[in-house]
Amino acid sequence: MNRKNRIAVLISGGGTNLQSLIDAITQGEIPNAEIVIIISSNLEAKGLERAKMAGIPGRVPKGPCDSREYSENLMHLLLEAKPDLVVLAGYLKILDKEIVNAFLGRIVNIHPSLLPKYGGKGCYGLKVHEMVLESGDTVTGATIHYVTEGVDQGEIILQHQMGVEKTDTPESLASRVLDLEHQLMVEGVKKVLMEMDGRSEKWEDC
Ligand code: GRF
Repeated sequence: MNRKNRIAVLISGGGTNLQSLIDAITQGEIPNAEIVIIISSNLEAKGLERAKMAGIPGRVPKGPCDSREYSENLMHLLLEAKPDLVVLAGYLKILDKEIVNAFLGRIVNIHPSLLPKYGGKGCYGLKVHEMVLESGDTVTGATIHYVTEGVDQGEIILQHQMGVEKTDTPESLASRVLDLEHQLMVEGVKKVLMEMDGRSEKWEDC
């Protein structure tokens, strides 16, 4: 039996996407996987509470989150965790290219729009849903994609879409899209891990 796929999850806030992963792994919806570390850019993130409740190590890299010290600490935490997959789940910082390149092809991110629409620098949180409403689009959704040096530009893994109602506000849209993200997060991670197992690309057991 292959060892479990090791997952590192990066968060910055509420951690509801993280929670959907924790629950899916606990319930066996994502087989043969374990979250080995949860790293937050924010000491106050509620997601760190979720880590504690789930008995998963939670860490906050040392140093101001836009500093060299922080990036070096983040890289150290990731290398030490030896993840087969890094999942950005509501992680609001742009990863240093050294980190992206160290894990290229095994970092995924979830974004609350149908990329490539409404993605890129500065497109996060309510801003995304404001742009959707301003555009008059009748459909929106969420995307899980591979992370590359360009913001929100990596290969798309999976997307879920839904209708935009005339009565929608940025807040009501954000709430419905977040529900979609939770399903997408689980399906997307499961798909990536199954493909990885097929390629049997894992950290060598040392
Ligand atoms: C989500 O909308 C996600 O798409 C975005 O950050 C938000 C926070 O999600 N990247 P979570 O509750 O912290 O998982």
